Amino acid sequence: MGRKCSRRSLMEFPILLIHTLFLLFFPLPLLSEHNNFVRQPAGQLIITPHQRSHSDPQQVHISLVGKEKMRVSWITEEKHAESVVEYGTESGEYSAKSTGEHTSYRYFLYNSGKIHNVVIGPLKPGTTYFYRCGGSGPEFSLKTPPHNFPLEFVVVGKSLSLGFDISLLLHRLVCFCLRDLGQTEWTASTLKHVESREYDVALLPGDLSYADSQQPLWDSFGRLVEPYASKRPWMVTEGNHEIEIFPIIYPQPFQAYNARWPMPFQQSASTSNLYYSFQLVATHVIMLGSYTDFHAQSQQYNWLQSDLANIDRAKTPWLIVLLHAPWYNTNEAHQGEGESMRQAMEQLLYNARVDLVFAGHVHAYERFTRIYDNKVDSCGPMYVTIGDGGNREGLALMFKNPPSPLSLYREPSFGHGRLRIVNETHAHWSWHRNNDTDAVVADGIWIESLSSSQACSIQQDDPNEEL
Ligand SMILES: *[C@@H]1O[C@H](CO)[C@@H](O)[C@H](O)[C@H]1NC(C)=O
Ligand SMILES: *[C@@H]1O[C@H](CO)[C@@H](O)[C@H](O)[C@H]1NC(C)=O
Ligand SMILES: [Fe+2]
Repeated sequence: MGRKCSRRSLMEFPILLIHTLFLLFFPLPLLSEHNNFVRQPAGQLIITPHQRSHSDPQQVHISLVGKEKMRVSWITEEKHAESVVEYGTESGEYSAKSTGEHTSYRYFLYNSGKIHNVVIGPLKPGTTYFYRCGGSGPEFSLKTPPHNFPLEFVVVGKSLSLGFDISLLLHRLVCFCLRDLGQTEWTASTLKHVESREYDVALLPGDLSYADSQQPLWDSFGRLVEPYASKRPWMVTEGNHEIEIFPIIYPQPFQAYNARWPMPFQQSASTSNLYYSFQLVATHVIMLGSYTDFHAQSQQYNWLQSDLANIDRAKTPWLIVLLHAPWYNTNEAHQGEGESMRQAMEQLLYNARVDLVFAGHVHAYERFTRIYDNKVDSCGPMYVTIGDGGNREGLALMFKNPPSPLSLYREPSFGHGRLRIVNETHAHWSWHRNNDTDAVVADGIWIESLSSSQACSIQQDDPNEEL
């Protein structure tokens, strides 16, 4: 990239104090966590302070929304700030302007800022745009995804309590400022390698901010990720840490998540921000919701069925699914939590010849073989769990033994994955540990799309046939 990377000063706060105060005022609801392993202490939080004026945009992030369009989301403290984005392909010269909408929400004593959402486009593929939000404040830039393969997704698991690891990772993804890792280990050739390995779209299978009802942490998270999420579309689905219900007073889950991270659900005929799909360069990506109804004939189930039925695999050879609680998992943690969803939906994914299923939730990396119904099946999806790596104090992460023959690689380290779709038939999946340089592929494998496999060609099922 060659551009200088401005490193923001991330102030560390005595977060335990804040945490304790919040717990006093807002006793955390029990959410859906009934796992029996020890949670990480929240000692490594990094609070990203607000350093702009009240009317300036903060927490800017972008997401794909329909064909050739992008949604720009940001927050202002100033309630009169306009929901408008000016943009163009030249810095400082904005040839186009879009107006959008705004929202806000309350959670106990917390009042959110004004949350703006503006859709811009049509945008040209593979092009850098410059944009400004609300008519003032700093200029941002973004790059639209390419028109043809190769297409590169980055898959980022849990964001780790706004911690040290995520900020390191984020710097690697876009800035490649590896001061923290020590630049000495970086040879010129490694840097070159990294420079050529950008990404087009980030996919996050849930547990974004770990705010867990502490609303200011959502704002801090938004500011932490802004330098990255304002440059490339970040497509997310929800995790258990986004539920944030409070009995009787706030019975509706995902209030903050839905307000702050709107995803293109209407564009994919879904009625909920908790599950949706999008189409990009002959690739169809489905984001499922692990924490909403998924049983047969539920809204999500029916939506998934019709979304899958509408995919023309001749034109869309790649089909990828993300969800939060893994259906296959040999870690001791979160055992069985994705099981009822698996039982409800696995056959739909199998019949549609889904290529890959990514999950989060578990604090480790695990890659499985192609599976259907707990058995090796060359026409089933390949399953990958990409969670975080626990804390640096060395929380022991336990995998079940003896290992399952379905599980091909498992390691409790934090990292990120890259799915590089090279062409209609081939993609390369790689997993990169956070403690290594980006050029190190801790785990890597070539994948052939199931749509190109004769043996797995899809039977034209009777649409009325039930399992
Ligand atoms: C797709 O990419 C793979 C891996 O690089 C290559 O072997 C194959 O020939 C390519 N197929 C086409 C149709 O270009
Ligand atoms: C990162 O951790 C892995 C697993 O513990 C280890 O094999 C590898 O050598 C480490 N890399 C660095 C650069 O320390
Ligand atoms: Fe989770």
